[in-house]
Amino acid sequence: MNATERLKTQFEQALVTAFGSELAGTDPMLVPASNPKFGDYQSNIALALAKRLGQPPRAIAEQIIQHLDIPECQLPTVAGPGFINLALKPSYLETQLVAMQADFRLGVPLTKRPKRVVVDFSSPNIAKEMHVGHLRSTIIGDCLARILEFQGHDVLRLNHLGDWGTQFGMLIAYLREAHPEALTTSNALDLGDLVTLYRQAKQRFDQDETFQETARREVVKLQMGEPTTYQAWQLLCEQSRREFQRIYDLLEIHLVERGESFYNPLLPAVVEELERSGLLVEDQGAKCVFLEGFTNRQGEPQPLIIQKTDGGYNYATTDLAALRYRIQQDQADWIIYITDAGQANHFAQVFQVAQRARWIPDQVRVIHVSFGLVLGEGGRKLKTRSGDTIRLQELLDEAIARARADLETRLQEEGREETEQFKEHVAHVVGIGAVKYADLSQNRTSNYVFSYDKMLALQGNTAPYMIYAYVRVQGISRKGQINFEQLAQQTQIHLQKDVELVLAKHLLQLSEVLDQVATELLPNRLCQYLFELSQKFNQFYDRCPVLTVPEPLQTSRLALCDLTARTLKLGLSLLGIEVLDRM
Ligand code: ARG
Repeated sequence: MNATERLKTQFEQALVTAFGSELAGTDPMLVPASNPKFGDYQSNIALALAKRLGQPPRAIAEQIIQHLDIPECQLPTVAGPGFINLALKPSYLETQLVAMQADFRLGVPLTKRPKRVVVDFSSPNIAKEMHVGHLRSTIIGDCLARILEFQGHDVLRLNHLGDWGTQFGMLIAYLREAHPEALTTSNALDLGDLVTLYRQAKQRFDQDETFQETARREVVKLQMGEPTTYQAWQLLCEQSRREFQRIYDLLEIHLVERGESFYNPLLPAVVEELERSGLLVEDQGAKCVFLEGFTNRQGEPQPLIIQKTDGGYNYATTDLAALRYRIQQDQADWIIYITDAGQANHFAQVFQVAQRARWIPDQVRVIHVSFGLVLGEGGRKLKTRSGDTIRLQELLDEAIARARADLETRLQEEGREETEQFKEHVAHVVGIGAVKYADLSQNRTSNYVFSYDKMLALQGNTAPYMIYAYVRVQGISRKGQINFEQLAQQTQIHLQKDVELVLAKHLLQLSEVLDQVATELLPNRLCQYLFELSQKFNQFYDRCPVLTVPEPLQTSRLALCDLTARTLKLGLSLLGIEVLDRM
């Protein structure tokens, strides 16, 4: 139980003692105080109960506080028309901080109910470029997976690669005519070529009927596992996979690949099962399920096509097979899908069909975590200067190059010499960290404008600002020759000044914030927490001398520094961002 929950329980008990068992289970409406002047928590329950109890709110509040005996808090007070204010005792905060410092998990408990969680993220398509939408999915998915893993859940990170479908027939048919060598030798093409080829193949397909026939025959051959076609498909996949891997390496992201092709053998069973459950309807030769709550322009129920007239399957069919597999074979308790908001209907439809077919047991949660678009400056689609779509590799390289340039300027201004290795490392950590942080710090449901200048700024809610706060603490330990690890064993904490209390309270919220992020699946809350932590730390550090004060205050303040650094490091690592000792 965290501090807020404990306070709530104690408050509930006081309500019952004051007014009898009718009030058992009443929510005390405890919220963080709007103004630190009023303490740490505030409750409006007295106002809410006035009518029911037939007493003035202030009188109710007075009775409640007479029965409130919360060891963690100072004497409660009543303000205004009947607000109850609670303030935590400094001694309580001090004990909590000492415990937090001795704990390598910084007071964050492991979950008591570990779940098997599938996080389906990134999932680019073979022979197509991985675009900024996939980048968002990759960054958000990795972050949510990390947070759930840290809480002790058993997370399976799945890359639902788009590696199957009729487009492969078209692509292989085209390559057979235009670049036969690419079908038999690896490395003959890179993904850039593949993307161009894809465009050419599509053009050919749209114009030429005989070519369409050839392409269809290739699809059939692929489905039957005909060796040369199958090998060609594998080569195409390998080439794309290599490109994707470079991006994952740069971002340090690990995924288990389980593409759409994996579920191909399971698709007929989806049709059979739906048939058996009575949901499947033949409509103009296609097998479909009529959806509830989705209608076409004429107001008629919209069908979800499970199997096309030609026997082929759709994106949704594969997702139905995947959902079933993840529940039955992977034993997933939660399945979390991370894609742009444009796919919201797709998932709502897939979930509905699975629900109606009774494939989703009551305790299993399926969740679509959706996000907005990445826009260029000016609010339009993100493009290169020449108007082309941006390649992710270039976008990340550019972020690193700019971080490097900023660093060089700073080094020159400060008259510092650093090794090439140092510069490379700092540029990498800052550049990649900035891209990830810029994405995660936005509420994922909104669109955001991609700006190198903003994300790389040393001031503001950015990765460099946060990393710099960490570096600042490491500077203190270097300057004072302090070994923070030894500090942890025998610390006493004394909170004297307001800025210390403010910092202390913020530090102690870590566990609650992580719970919130895991419940709402909103990483920006963690970013906000870390940003405020850095600000509160900077205020503390500006006003409270550390290395020049006598003991026991010195150690106490060093402990606050250490706790801040460790919290930043942990928090950033959960966002997938590294820290630096110097920058
Ligand atoms: N490949 C898809 C795309 O690029 C994303 C797949 C998301 N996952 C899923 N199970 N449908 O849009």
